[in-house]
Amino acid sequence: MRTQVGIIGAGPAGLLLSHLLHLRGISSVVLEKRSRAYVERRVRAGVLEQGTVDTLVEAGVGARLLREGLPHHGIELRYGGAGHRIAFDKLVPGRAITVYGQQEVVKDLIAARLAAGGDLRFEVEDVEVHSPESEPYLTFGGERLDCDVIAGCDGFHGVSRPSVPDGVLEVFEREYPFAWLGVLAEVAPSSEELIYARTERGFALHSMRSPTVSRFYLQVPADADVAQWPDERVWAELKARLETVPGFELTTGEIIEKGVTPMRSFVAEPMQYGRLYLAGDAAHIVPPTGAKGLNLAVADVRVLTEALAAFFEHGSPELLDGYSAACLKRVWRAQHFSWWMTTLLHTFDEDDPYGRRLQTSYLDYVTSSEAAATTLAENYVGLPFDRPHV
Ligand code: FAD
Ligand code: DHB
Repeated sequence: MRTQVGIIGAGPAGLLLSHLLHLRGISSVVLEKRSRAYVERRVRAGVLEQGTVDTLVEAGVGARLLREGLPHHGIELRYGGAGHRIAFDKLVPGRAITVYGQQEVVKDLIAARLAAGGDLRFEVEDVEVHSPESEPYLTFGGERLDCDVIAGCDGFHGVSRPSVPDGVLEVFEREYPFAWLGVLAEVAPSSEELIYARTERGFALHSMRSPTVSRFYLQVPADADVAQWPDERVWAELKARLETVPGFELTTGEIIEKGVTPMRSFVAEPMQYGRLYLAGDAAHIVPPTGAKGLNLAVADVRVLTEALAAFFEHGSPELLDGYSAACLKRVWRAQHFSWWMTTLLHTFDEDDPYGRRLQTSYLDYVTSSEAAATTLAENYVGLPFDRPHV
């Protein structure tokens, strides 16, 4: 079996790449180890930057997103007994974010690929990368797929990054001493906009998926287990961390999903080796506080699509050779922003009273200085694709 681009992973990166390549007349096969039902149900990100929405709409997979996605023109930072709005409409006019579940993006992309006759293989076993330096091919479940190029879109725990020989990649990494407990609940949101709350008990985030479904996150110890978090405890802790301003009441309801996500920053450089190109979480991850992971995956895939189009249409390898360098500016900007948002809003066990005062003093600055608030806003809504590193 032969294809132009062998793609490992049917997450947002792999599926979008396959779709964008199809629009450019380039063939691909997507190999995914999980089932279609599993990837369509996996609850993860929810915040799409303007550029991500534009990309999906331009690619013809944005109809449902435009219908059902919730545009947001601001977020609230809540701390010290008060809420402070970061107003995107005022600070970065014309740019906003859209709340739309990652698994909805995945569903839309799978439907588009299948409608176009795309070759997506679910539940494939033992994918292995071979000779990425010269004539790359993939093997899986006893089959062989020859390709001109391999795209490693298989997330942080995939096989593509570990298949690069030792010593080639430089790794930059930081682990945080806490995790997020994510909760999906069948209850109307208690707020119109997302609330990022810093309290002495830890961080909490109120997000949403629709007018009837809310999404919440709680900072929990790094070794937390969902079994330690029965529904009553989740609601009590969310109330303790969110009902901190006069008049705000959290509506509770049925919890339909719960999961713990570790918090890590990670970058592997370069994002390529021979004819193997890494995209999305396979190359880098950020703590979710800045809502950047999915958006970075989309940005990588845009760059990779242009580079592959130049390679296949005109035989020019220059853009492919420069792929990693082109992506890493945005990646590092998002690394800094995600680290910064995380540091600003979480409690750290080692923090002394001085550290806590520094944190609230900085929050006061961000919420009162237009310049500082603009920095937050322009990073949160996402830097334009042609200006990744202002
Ligand atoms: P993935 O989505 O991880 O997809 C990789 C795919 O490869 C998976 O389907 C996996 O099953 C498959 N795979 C793995 N190994 C193999 C193998 N050996 N063979 C074949 N297939 C394999 N980002 C945002 O932008 N905004 C947010 O609001 C946000 N919130 C988040 C909240 C949470 C709780 C979490 C966990 C993440 C959040 N993120 C957010 C991050 C975002 O979900 C990820 O960055 C995004 O999923 C990356 O997409 P990807 O396609 O690179 O990787
Ligand atoms: C969501 C996730 C995030 O990481 C974030 O910063 C904001 C919202 C969400 O899943 O809705």
